[in-house]
Amino acid sequence: MIRGIEIGNMQDTDIGEAKQIWVRQYELHCNQKDFPTYWKEDTSLLEGFLSDKVKDEKAIVAKLGGKVVGFLAFDEFPFNGEDSVFCPAIGHSAVEEYKESVYLELYKSISQKWVNRNIFNHMWTIFINDEKLKKILFDLGYGSYLIDAFTNCHNNYSRELRNNDIRQATIIDKEALHSLVIESNEYYATAPLFLKREEVSGEEIEELIRKKNVLIAMDQEKPIGFLNISICNENDFINLTTEGNGLLDEIGIFIKPEYRNKDIGLGLLMKAMDYCKQLETKYIHVDFETANLYANKFWIKYFSPMLLSMRRTINKNINDK
Ligand SMILES: CC(C)(COP(=O)(O)OP(=O)(O)OC[C@H]1O[C@@H](n2cnc3c(N)ncnc32)[C@H](O)[C@@H]1OP(=O)(O)O)[C@@H](O)C(=O)NCCC(=O)NCCS
Repeated sequence: MIRGIEIGNMQDTDIGEAKQIWVRQYELHCNQKDFPTYWKEDTSLLEGFLSDKVKDEKAIVAKLGGKVVGFLAFDEFPFNGEDSVFCPAIGHSAVEEYKESVYLELYKSISQKWVNRNIFNHMWTIFINDEKLKKILFDLGYGSYLIDAFTNCHNNYSRELRNNDIRQATIIDKEALHSLVIESNEYYATAPLFLKREEVSGEEIEELIRKKNVLIAMDQEKPIGFLNISICNENDFINLTTEGNGLLDEIGIFIKPEYRNKDIGLGLLMKAMDYCKQLETKYIHVDFETANLYANKFWIKYFSPMLLSMRRTINKNINDK
């Protein structure tokens, strides 16, 4: 353990040093060809993010001998109805040399303030390849929650695909697609995932179809699965996607259970990659809960995990008198 680390509120004058530490960690842990390079090439977004956090007093810094050795910036929001704090991957870093001591000091200091305010749900997103940090958080009581993964649209997953009929959904598919989406939400709500997804209305389905964002798989006349692909129109601090990235989100991907394991999911993915290539999009992003047993196998075959979100819930009676 290193002694003498001092924790204080982050100031604008700390941002330059903090930025260098972050970029070094990004280079160390995110150097795969499937990952966007944007974040290390143009750090203005990182600077802007930290500067907003300094203004909001939602950033702390660790110093050793007057030099910045780590920082932590966070958001507060209700997560599934519970007051929560969240440190995105862009919002924390520490020098490799003192990583353990720095993170422990940062967390000890800030978590007391969170818990004093009855915030018991603590979430972090980290670079998934940062084994040291993963272990630090695991020992603090954190477990896996979500993975953000990327693929390069030019990756080749060529396999002999069976003749599945996959096409862009049109307005005549609206009702069938809606019932598949309802079925997918029922799946997410079951064990061991227990994820309550927001209901999707008929109007929202129509909007997705109109934006030409849905691919649908057919068994003759019967729709049996779908995939939702769109193109990101902004840079996102949370999942580190950038403008122009392909996104597999909103209603995601779903194949009816009796049609699974027939390469239909792969067929939909390959069509989505072709769509992105036509638009000269380089990367596609997906996120999925690690407790989704299907997703945690399927996506990892074709995508490279970059970020891991971890979650800790504090004993709820800690502030009881
Ligand atoms: C993920 C999903 C779309 C894959 O569709 P699919 O048509 O079965 O996929 P493919 O036939 O192309 O690929 C089969 C792969 O799916 C995964 N899979 C299939 N059955 C599985 C099971 N019972 N448990 C875990 N993974 C499974 C495996 O990775 C499998 O490949 P493998 O056997 O070589 O490991 C489908 O399983 C599904 O709809 N799941 C429920 C919805 C969901 O989780 N969507 C993802 C949200 S992020």
